[in-house]
Amino acid sequence: MSKEIVLSGIRSTGNLHLGNYFGALRNFVRMQDDYDCNFFIADLHALTTNPDPKQLHANVKHIVAEYLAAGIDPEKSALFIQSDVPEIPELYLLLNMHVGIGELMRTASFKHKARQALGIAKPGESEETATTGEDDEAFEKQIIGAETNKRVNAGLLTYPTLMAVDILIQKATKVPVGKDQEQHLELTRRFARRFNSFYGVDFFPEPYNFNFGAAAVKVPGLDGSGKMGKSEGNCIYLVDDPKTLRKKVMRAVTDEGPKEPNQPVSQPIENLLSLLALCNKPELEQQFRDAYADCSIRYGDLKKALAEELVTITTPIRDRINDILADEDYLRRAVKMGADKARARASETLKQAREIMGIRRF
Ligand code: TYM
Repeated sequence: MSKEIVLSGIRSTGNLHLGNYFGALRNFVRMQDDYDCNFFIADLHALTTNPDPKQLHANVKHIVAEYLAAGIDPEKSALFIQSDVPEIPELYLLLNMHVGIGELMRTASFKHKARQALGIAKPGESEETATTGEDDEAFEKQIIGAETNKRVNAGLLTYPTLMAVDILIQKATKVPVGKDQEQHLELTRRFARRFNSFYGVDFFPEPYNFNFGAAAVKVPGLDGSGKMGKSEGNCIYLVDDPKTLRKKVMRAVTDEGPKEPNQPVSQPIENLLSLLALCNKPELEQQFRDAYADCSIRYGDLKKALAEELVTITTPIRDRINDILADEDYLRRAVKMGADKARARASETLKQAREIMGIRRF
């Protein structure tokens, strides 16, 4: 029986952090034996924020090395760079003909990124809190009225179409991503259904998030607020050395401690405990939850325990990254193999999509 197709990607916007690792990369590694896995570096998506060209290339290379160092085996999984698959931009153009500007403008990630580009992001706003709904009209006016030196580029608006194409072109049904990507997956399903029903075909399957049966992960920042993210400036990176990592954890925001037995756990402490849970240490997590409940918890101990678990997880990965980066030949071979594999299926899907849409050769 053929294996189910899996696809996921990470934007090349900087080093990978624990959000990327626990939300995505760790699952990629675990899925390799049981699924037809396709993992990529979303360098075209990274262009939506107009990165420096030299930096973009360095980032792509670094993330390839991080994927490999974390345990992606290029013999088992197709590991490729998005821009090495030119079928993706072509299908992106075709699919855009079935995507509404309105639905793209209402996407939370677009709202947040557009406001950032215009310098009008609300204090404390994140992708999750940039709600769709009541402020749509004002938002639209801001975009249309934006001066040209602060424009919101069209690539940012059509970001979800490109992401949908990444998935649909491989006909993937399982997409291991963190919670922050779920709205994009919902749009992908909607675009797939719309294409199928418009042309009366059963062509694109509908993809779903996958986390081994558990809910999607949201890795919190250590600043007591929302998620860990590059633009939030609150990341622990896989390449952080133990000293830096310990320092970041020890500086995590806490509070004055529980005042009475069995009170609900406060948000900053819940964040630390949920990180500990992600380290697969349920007994340690429970120990600190019990200590919180009877008011004997010492936050210093919690932070130290968490830092040590994180050091244990990241050290072997960090150690391998530099060796892999030095081996240009290996990197090149790995992504060439991945691109060949990804292109084989992508060109077949594109060919059929063109046919379905009536673009035929004489
Ligand atoms: P990106 O590059 O922002 O993040 C890559 C992956 O890391 C996950 N992630 C998190 N998970 C939990 N908690 C966090 N704090 C956290 N921060 C990041 C993300 O959920 C994601 O799984 N649009 C995507 C890239 C993409 C893609 C695709 C993904 C492009 N095409 C097709 C899947 C399929 C993005 O920007 O991810």
